[in-house]
Amino acid sequence: MKLIKGTLVALTCAAMLMGCESKKKETSSIDVKDAEVSKNLVLDLSVDKVKNTLGTLKEADSFPRNITKGQKDWNLVGVRDWCSGFWPGVLWYAYELSDDPEIKAGAEKFTAPLKEIAYTPADNHDVGFMVYCSYGNGYRLTGNEEYKTVMLAAADTLATLYNPKVGTILSWPVMVDKIGYNTIIDNMMNLELLFWAAKNGGDKSLYDIADSHAQKSMEHLVRPDYSIYHVALFDEKTGEFTKGITHQGYADESMWARGQGWGIYGFALSYRETGKEEYLDTSIKLADHFIERLPEDGVPYWDFDDPKIPNAPKDASAASLVACGMLELADQVKDNALKVKYTQAAKDLMAKLESKAYFSGDTNQALLLHSTGHLPHNSEIDVPIIYADYYFMEALVRLKKLEDKIAMQ
Ligand code: GLY
Repeated sequence: MKLIKGTLVALTCAAMLMGCESKKKETSSIDVKDAEVSKNLVLDLSVDKVKNTLGTLKEADSFPRNITKGQKDWNLVGVRDWCSGFWPGVLWYAYELSDDPEIKAGAEKFTAPLKEIAYTPADNHDVGFMVYCSYGNGYRLTGNEEYKTVMLAAADTLATLYNPKVGTILSWPVMVDKIGYNTIIDNMMNLELLFWAAKNGGDKSLYDIADSHAQKSMEHLVRPDYSIYHVALFDEKTGEFTKGITHQGYADESMWARGQGWGIYGFALSYRETGKEEYLDTSIKLADHFIERLPEDGVPYWDFDDPKIPNAPKDASAASLVACGMLELADQVKDNALKVKYTQAAKDLMAKLESKAYFSGDTNQALLLHSTGHLPHNSEIDVPIIYADYYFMEALVRLKKLEDKIAMQ
C-alpha cells in the first residue's frame, strides 16, 4: 500500500520534528519514538527529505556519496563510482512509499546513466550494487522492459569476473597485483543480480556461478565462530584458498561490522534463491553472533574489535544494512519464534537509527548520520554515507509492507 500525503502533512511533520528539537534541548534524551510521534513521521520526513534533495541535484550523472563533516550537502560522484546505484535506489524506495510522480521521474532520471555499467567491461564486482539497486528496483516497481534488458546485460558483464577454477567471482581485479586473487564478503550481495537473471531469461549458468560463489564464500570467508573475514585470497591457478585478510576492517581476524552485515543478508538471499539449508543456517549464525556482540546502546561500532571502543566511531550503515538482512532472514525462517526474533532485532536497530542521535533531521541532506566507510584509509569516518540511507529506506519499505500485511489479517 502506498502512502498518500501532501504538503500539509509535510509541514505538520516538520513542525513536529522542530517540537522534538526544542524538547531535546531541555531533556537531552528524547528521540522521535520517545516523543510518541507517529511511526509514519519518520517515513514521511524521509520521503520529503529525499524529494527536497532531488530538487537540488541538477546533473543526472552525478550521485550523492557522502557529506563532509560540517557541510550540509552531499558530495557527488560519477557513474563508475561503486556507490552510484544507491541514490537512484533511494529514489525508487521513496517513490514506492509515496506514489509521487515527481520522485518517480527523478528515479528514472538518475537510473538512466547507469546503463553504461551493463555494457562496458566489469572492473569490479560492484556491478551488482550499481545496477540492482537502481534498475532492479525500477524494474520491480514499473515492469519497464528496457530496465530488464539492461539488468540481463549487467548480469552477463558481472559473470565475466567468474573464475571456474576458484569457483568465485574476482571482486577487485585492480588489487590482484597487490594481494592476489580476491573474493570479498560484500560480493555476496551481488549474487542477487545473477540469481534474478537466471530466472528471467538470462543464461542458466548464472545460477551456478552465484551458487558456487556462495558455497566458496561460506567455506572460506565465514570463520568457525561465525564472524567473517573481509577478504578471502586464493591461488588462481590451483583454486586453493590461501588466507583470510581484511581491507576495511581493524585487523585480519577482527569482525568488521558492515562485512558481517553483507554476510547476514547475502546468505539469507542465497537461501531464498537456492533453498540450500546451509546458507540459511549460516545467515542465522552470523545474525546471532552480531546480536550477541552488539554494544549496550544497540548500534555497532565500525569494527567490533577496535581496541579504542568505546571511543571508536559507529557505523550507521552497518545498522541499516543489518536491519534489512534480519528482515530478509525473518522472511526465510520457518519457525515463528525465529521470525519474531529477527523482525524484532531489525526493529530495534531501526529504532536506534530513528533516534535523534542518528536521524539527521535538518543537520544535512542525508537521512542518517554516523557511518564509517574505510577507517584504515582514513576515509569517510563518522559521516553520512549514501548506502546507509539506501538500506534505511529499504528497511522502512519492508517494515511498512509487514505492517500492511498484519493489518490485513
Ligand atoms: N562494499 C564496500 C563497503 O562496504 O564499504
